[in-house]
Amino acid sequence: MRTAAGAAIPVLGPRLLDTLELRLEAYQAIPPAAAATEEAFWREVRKAFPPHPDYINLENGYSSPQPMPTWDAFQRHELTVNNGLSFYMRRRRAADYASVKQQLAALAGCPADEIAITRNTTESLGTVIHGIDLEPGAEAVMCDQDYGTMLEQFRQQSRRRGLRCVEIQVPLHPRDDQEIVDTYARAFTPRTKLLLLSHMINITGQILPVRKIADMAHSRGVAVIVDAAHSFAQFVFRVPDLDGDYLGASLHKWLCTPLGAGLLHVKKDKIRTVWPLLGETSVPDDDIRKLERIGTHPVWTIMAIADAIRFHNLVGGARKEARLRYLQQYWTDRVREIPNVHLNTPSGPRACAIANVGIASQRPGVLADTLLDKYRIYTVAIDTAPVKGVRVTPHLYTSTQELDTLVKAIGELARA
Ligand SMILES: Cc1ncc(COP(=O)(O)O)c(C=O)c1O
Repeated sequence: MRTAAGAAIPVLGPRLLDTLELRLEAYQAIPPAAAATEEAFWREVRKAFPPHPDYINLENGYSSPQPMPTWDAFQRHELTVNNGLSFYMRRRRAADYASVKQQLAALAGCPADEIAITRNTTESLGTVIHGIDLEPGAEAVMCDQDYGTMLEQFRQQSRRRGLRCVEIQVPLHPRDDQEIVDTYARAFTPRTKLLLLSHMINITGQILPVRKIADMAHSRGVAVIVDAAHSFAQFVFRVPDLDGDYLGASLHKWLCTPLGAGLLHVKKDKIRTVWPLLGETSVPDDDIRKLERIGTHPVWTIMAIADAIRFHNLVGGARKEARLRYLQQYWTDRVREIPNVHLNTPSGPRACAIANVGIASQRPGVLADTLLDKYRIYTVAIDTAPVKGVRVTPHLYTSTQELDTLVKAIGELARA
């Protein structure tokens, strides 16, 4: 390996991705549906993740650990930049950014000039929420299960600019897509200008029919902001197919990048509608790069996005989705009928990795503590008005044996 200036620097370790690629090569022909239960393949994938803590981690909804090959590359990128800081920033950074964007765009299925790299979904969507002009008296629709930080950002716009925020309730177990579309439609008035939509609701894992809701919103002249923090790279979709005008995602969640990597997608003809928060004027108004100015920051995180994409493609997006759905259904199917147990997540294709379970008469916080203290299972308590339970999020490295432990624990606690 060379420094930015070209001098040789020591390589930290073996090229772990190459090694993994060789190990996974034998399995590459397995079709996604069959791969979900191909335990030998997942044992290899599991080896790529960091050593496991002394508890069963079923709280991968916070963020994902980087697989070791990505972490290894991340360390090497930091060393590369550190060895020629100004040289790298002035002469190499732009090309690396462009290359990472091309790769992200290929993954997202959209043109690279519609993508900005950010630090996370909060920044991506905040850039939009605070950067677009809305007339006084305009209304924005959102739901009570959207992510708190987004709701807070909207509330600030309410205090600052007089935006009216209309918060609706989305059913936990919708009959069909139309019920959800109608729920949103009922909240619209002639003053509605903006809609916030979570592609996957973070506290329950419910996947919303974003395209159908967006079509309804567009037919009424309402612009759509999609929160894809959890959906991006957890399951397969093309960003343009959702037809959101603006979309934000956190790459450190399911793409498994280092912490602090996000994506903002803005439709080409909407880029002009967003003011850059930090006053970038060196690029034209319709150039998405105007939304990337954050000053000097750890660029090696961005360089490592390319390594994370390579890992993702090695596992295969469709295989990953199939496995995550399988793991979630593995445990939810086994607890669904237990008396006193309620699932706050719909069954079937409306969920992927994440699900939420409650036990009657157990407060969510007590349930999460008991799972950890008594069974060494780490989850997170969700105690909100619409949702009471613990969120359970397996990952690619989760084994079915670990889920058996969860099922046993839920059964015992429900009977206690
Ligand atoms: C639906 C949703 N939106 C946004 C966020 C914020 O993500 P970040 O902290 O990476 O900005 C989260 C975090 O869990 C989330 O679940």
